[in-house]
Amino acid sequence: MDFRTQVITPGGTSRLAADALLLLVAGDSLPPGLDEPLAQALTEAIAQGDLSLKPGKLAYLRQVPGVKSPRVAVVVLREGSAKAVKAAALAGLGLLKGLGIKHLAVQIAGTDTVVAAQAEALANAVGEWAYAYSHTKPSATEAPPLNKLSLLVASKAEAKAADEGLARGAAIADGVALARELANRPGNHCTPTMLADEARKMARANGLKIEVLDRKQIEALGMGSFLAVAQGSAEAPRFIVMHYQGAAKTQPPLVLVGKGITFDSGGISLKPGEGMDEMKFDMGGAASVVGTLRAVAALKPKLNLIGVVAACENMPGGRALKPGDVITSLSGQTIEVLNTDAEGRLVLCDALTYVERFKPAAVVDIATLTGACVVALGAVRSGMFSADDGLAAELLAAGDAALDTCWRMPVDDDYDEGLKSNFADMANIAGRAGGAITAAMFLKRFTAKLRWAHLDIAGTAWKSGAAKGSTGRPVGLLTHWVLAQAQAK
Ligand code: BES
Ligand code: MN
Ligand code: ZN
Repeated sequence: MDFRTQVITPGGTSRLAADALLLLVAGDSLPPGLDEPLAQALTEAIAQGDLSLKPGKLAYLRQVPGVKSPRVAVVVLREGSAKAVKAAALAGLGLLKGLGIKHLAVQIAGTDTVVAAQAEALANAVGEWAYAYSHTKPSATEAPPLNKLSLLVASKAEAKAADEGLARGAAIADGVALARELANRPGNHCTPTMLADEARKMARANGLKIEVLDRKQIEALGMGSFLAVAQGSAEAPRFIVMHYQGAAKTQPPLVLVGKGITFDSGGISLKPGEGMDEMKFDMGGAASVVGTLRAVAALKPKLNLIGVVAACENMPGGRALKPGDVITSLSGQTIEVLNTDAEGRLVLCDALTYVERFKPAAVVDIATLTGACVVALGAVRSGMFSADDGLAAELLAAGDAALDTCWRMPVDDDYDEGLKSNFADMANIAGRAGGAITAAMFLKRFTAKLRWAHLDIAGTAWKSGAAKGSTGRPVGLLTHWVLAQAQAK
């Protein structure tokens, strides 16, 4: 998508011929920076009761005299924060759905100056609005897609900040769209093999190196825990490693590890039927890793980043892992599997051991890991777990900056108690209480050599109900974290 800023002189907004103009206005009186024809139209709309200058109020105006763009959507901003801009933009864009808008112009009026964070939030909103799933429902895309976004600003200085924000926002929006697309695809259209093929496509298109390991190679490495989950399915597993190199090879990389369960039936510890379809989203962590690599490849920060995805199905086939089985992980630690539905940690633990070889500066794993995390934090913030205060602070800040927030949860050693087993080094589940934390404690046993954090995105990776679909989270958080690490050097 072509996202650009245009410096406008007075009268420029109304002279621009876009398919639609989105006008975000702040304040309880009409801002002075508005073109005369727009100011007049708004004054009239207010007088007629079609609009009031209260936060969140909307109006849709057609064929405003003196305005070249045939459609004008007006939204009253609560204030000038990036969060408010995103919410207002999404509300305004809602009025423009399905109209075949190819060129959208946006003006933010009544806030001090347009800053990078506002421009980024706007690009995010536009990307979110423009995405449509069509892989198995081609009829869902009737309208031609948006191909141009112009953000109108008043000066060169504003344009510079806005361009920077739009570039970041556009790259993140593309990464989010890719993550959403992969996660939305049904399990039979996104098998581990297909997921690896899509990762390969992304890597090729962005000049990234990629390796895809098949079952034999995974066996040769000794990933007994990952393979134990994969063995119940007829679908072959894939272990995907993507490399972005933006600095000298000797510089320790950041590493992202994604849970890639392309369908989680629960295995022999079978899940109930209701809502089981949503377990196609159980590769949301993997999708966010692929999406983040895409965003980072576009933004080219000066650091090295490796994305790792452990992809398989969790199925109750004749060879499936059984409750009580003891398996040996890549680390050599043995695991008593008390519940085959706690499979995410079984694939992640081997991936975490695998990435030790990269001597990473930091490792973040991303997983739709526990229903307990949904109970704890709902759909607003992702769960974040780390014993490293510095890394935890970085991730919290990245989430805030990206409007893709997380919340730190505890990892005290006392929580490890419940993982003890009489038959192996550990069990794969503890009691019901604190389930998101004990899952993190399980992973922690495999990260002694790493500067590590875990993101549980079970509540944030997708939406249920009428708006069922992937959110693409936490691509924004991860991309911001990666960019901030490049800045910090
Ligand atoms: N993929 C699920 C977690 C999940 C459940 C995410 C519901 C989103 C919504 C994971 O593999 C799982 O099944 N976890 C179990 C763990 C339990 C057996 C200890 C869970 O949360 O019930
Ligand atoms: Mn499960
Ligand atoms: Zn799962």
